[in-house]
Amino acid sequence: MIRRQFLARSLSAAVASLFARDVFAQHAGHSMQGMEDMEGMDDMSGMSGMQHAKPSLKAPPQGALAPADALPAGAPLPDLRRLANAGSEAGTFRATLVAEPTQHRLLAGRSTTFWQYNGSGAGSAQDPVTGPLIDVREGDTVEIRFINRLPQPSTIHWHGLPVPPDQDGNPSAMIAPGATHVYRFTLPPGSAGTYWYHPHPHMMSAEQVFRGLAGPIIVRAADDPLAGFPERHLFFSDLKLATDGSIPANDMMDWMNGREGQFVLVNGARRPRITVKEDERWRLWNACSARYLRFSLGEQQRFVQVGTDGGLLEKPREGLTELLLAPGERAEVIVRAGGAPSQATLTADVYDRRKMAMSHGSLPPDPAHALADVTFQPHTDARAGSSARSVPATLRTIVPFPAPVAQKSVIFSEAMDMAAMHRPGASVHGMPAGMRFMINGAGFDPKRVTLTSRRDEVEQWTIENRTDMDHPFHLHGTQFQVIGRERGGVKTPEPYLAWRDTVNVQPDEIVRIATVQTMAGERMFHCHILEHEDLGMMGTLKVT
Ligand code: C2O
Ligand code: CU
Ligand code: CU
Repeated sequence: MIRRQFLARSLSAAVASLFARDVFAQHAGHSMQGMEDMEGMDDMSGMSGMQHAKPSLKAPPQGALAPADALPAGAPLPDLRRLANAGSEAGTFRATLVAEPTQHRLLAGRSTTFWQYNGSGAGSAQDPVTGPLIDVREGDTVEIRFINRLPQPSTIHWHGLPVPPDQDGNPSAMIAPGATHVYRFTLPPGSAGTYWYHPHPHMMSAEQVFRGLAGPIIVRAADDPLAGFPERHLFFSDLKLATDGSIPANDMMDWMNGREGQFVLVNGARRPRITVKEDERWRLWNACSARYLRFSLGEQQRFVQVGTDGGLLEKPREGLTELLLAPGERAEVIVRAGGAPSQATLTADVYDRRKMAMSHGSLPPDPAHALADVTFQPHTDARAGSSARSVPATLRTIVPFPAPVAQKSVIFSEAMDMAAMHRPGASVHGMPAGMRFMINGAGFDPKRVTLTSRRDEVEQWTIENRTDMDHPFHLHGTQFQVIGRERGGVKTPEPYLAWRDTVNVQPDEIVRIATVQTMAGERMFHCHILEHEDLGMMGTLKVT
């Protein structure tokens, strides 16, 4: 089929967005078969449509999903489990993380097999999902013995932390099933912030995370100006559960848009209850595979953002009514108890990340999702002190990077080759062939270096999204500063200084960041929609 005919047919059928830009050039020559199949897939715009997929699509058999209220709601927010320090020397944190299958009873009469860190350890009944919190300090040397009891190879990646490249759980450093590996790193001054850990094996990260492998890390500074605030931790994860209690494999829509289950869990619980009696510091983790969380407590309940991925902002951002965290991102906010009792719902508001449809341009955005119910009950007992605490006007100093000496360019693109998707037997690890998510025109190849950097050189990275959906960009081993964003020729400088390791990039948007790598070795950068990462939207940065 020549390109002109292809366009005429596909555009009238409104499937153009599926065949994003590059596909016309690359695959138009052999897409005839694909197109015919496409037209037979008219109502494949959602999960239910997948049940009608032709067998050649290799869609895993989808058991019906449990209803969205199948998990109990309304229990108090569980505290995160903590990883105990087994070390005795000052300044050393030593512990063991075991990745292992564990059984939990979430639905009455059904058992669910998770893959978990230290799942059989004590205290996991309230929170059957989240890995234990690693709570450490700047200057600490962290030594984690990792025991892989999964049926797959795995790694542990220390998302956001400046650990040496050979300790960072790269996909090239797989730990085989049954094997043990010790990760060791020292946390430098200035690294205080909110991080997390998760597996990073190529083509299996998405599955290992959606089966439950992810946990929080907090690095504390000795001179934390907000140390006096009571802290609350909200670790958000996503769970898709079938009626039989199983966690189903990814289907085609999951691979294309990133997986979103019917449940968003906070510390492993659905829609828990939170009571705020005095001003609190909340740390928020978006550990979902693909779900964007646009947090809101309603118009009445404004909050203050005080931190991003890599720790405190320079100045608090007062009076916020919403805060968007893309998958992988974290934030710190101050939530005020207020002067009188009130109620609010912590909500993930509507955010249109332009998920692709099989037969329309894009799917409508998901409706708002209630995450937790919050009761504000400021204590009025004068002897107990005021429930209000003040936030200093300056939290710390963030020095802007000097002028960059090197430039790097990252371009996100995608291509859907329907013919390849339909070819029988053409899938690896359950991933559909022909669904290509790329960086600088190519999918991830473990043998190829995508970009090269020199250590200690300040670089400007230009990240451009030439696809039709949002992708969160993430760079390993360092924190960066967003300089500005550009869309439709309009440049918006970033309004405040912050340390990040993950930044969302909208379709047709260009995000510019400044960053530096300080250690030689290989670093990954990728889209943090884990399905896209597994499908190849990842590159290797070689630092020399
Ligand atoms: Cu959170 Cu390379 O990942
Ligand atoms: Cu990372
Ligand atoms: Cu992506």
